[in-house]
Amino acid sequence: MKGIILSGGQGTRLRPITHTGPKQLVPVANKPVLQYAVEDLRDAGVTEIGVVLGNLGREEIQQFLGNGSEFGVDITYIVQGNPLGLAHAAGCARNFVGDDDFVMYLGDNILNRGTSDLIGSFEDGKFSAGIALQEVDNPQQFGVAELDDDGTVTRLIEKPDDPPSNLALIGIYVFSSEVFDVIEQLEPSCRGELEITDAIQGLLDSGKDIDSHVVQGWWKDTGKPEDILEANRLVLEERHGTQEGTIEAGAETMGHIDLQETSVIEDGAVVRGPVSIGSNTVIKSGAYLGPYTSIGPNSIIENTHIENSVVIGESEITSNGEVVDSLIGKGATIGSAEELLPKGRRLVIGENSNLRL
Ligand code: G1P
Repeated sequence: MKGIILSGGQGTRLRPITHTGPKQLVPVANKPVLQYAVEDLRDAGVTEIGVVLGNLGREEIQQFLGNGSEFGVDITYIVQGNPLGLAHAAGCARNFVGDDDFVMYLGDNILNRGTSDLIGSFEDGKFSAGIALQEVDNPQQFGVAELDDDGTVTRLIEKPDDPPSNLALIGIYVFSSEVFDVIEQLEPSCRGELEITDAIQGLLDSGKDIDSHVVQGWWKDTGKPEDILEANRLVLEERHGTQEGTIEAGAETMGHIDLQETSVIEDGAVVRGPVSIGSNTVIKSGAYLGPYTSIGPNSIIENTHIENSVVIGESEITSNGEVVDSLIGKGATIGSAEELLPKGRRLVIGENSNLRL
């Protein structure tokens, strides 16, 4: 069994964060989303992994994953170029996959109960594909599966107006190499993409059996800022931190705090976990970090309250204010305007930024 991780896409819903880097490298609890996919595949025993790259962020992704040895896997890079759809991306991996079966993982998806069950169930039968499903409240926004009373997959539709069920295809699939011939015959969907959902429907139409597996535990497609915050919350809730940094006497801390090396929570700061603090970051006096907050490396937080937020890193936040439910890009600074005249906010905001003041 090989693995492919799709790491293209424009990340438009995560702008302006994705103006300067690929969405798959946005950190959740101080770990890039893509790393969760690599580790999940590795833990399921899939170590030969093809990473399919789009036009954006190729160098950053290659620099981060390298040859994979740091993560216990062997990585081959495959260039998709123009984003013509998930099925197109899969098709680009044909030479890498050869005649093997393979897991296809969308590189911006995180799930907590791994892929082992999906792979095991696929391998136990004679299936051409295996799909992972989960019930959602908004099936119109996903690929949706229709199952009969025995649980057999009878139909798949991409983003249906009138969904036959609320079982969404989550971004993890298992395929036999038969899928490549179907992909070659696909026509673009109304959104102009070659849909993987249509490829699986094509397998069904030619009489093949599709395995389905309802995934237990949570799953998040991290396409939007609120999804990053939600994934951060879910990961922090389960991950118990290592404390390699320093908590000074006089600092008030409670709950789980993941405090990485050379970071300091200084006298006079208050941190209520679960919180993750990356390396070489200082939480100074007057700062309050509340639950479900991740602060990235090389940052300084002073006199500011931050809760349920992700600060990606290299930031200086000294605003005397309160920051909640926020995603703050790398290198961003937030200072105080209290002493300045005329009174008012001072903003330098990138394209597609989104503020609530
Ligand atoms: C894609 C797939 C869709 C699937 C979803 C899971 O949607 O086309 O079938 O349900 O990923 O995240 P997209 O993110 O391209 O809208």
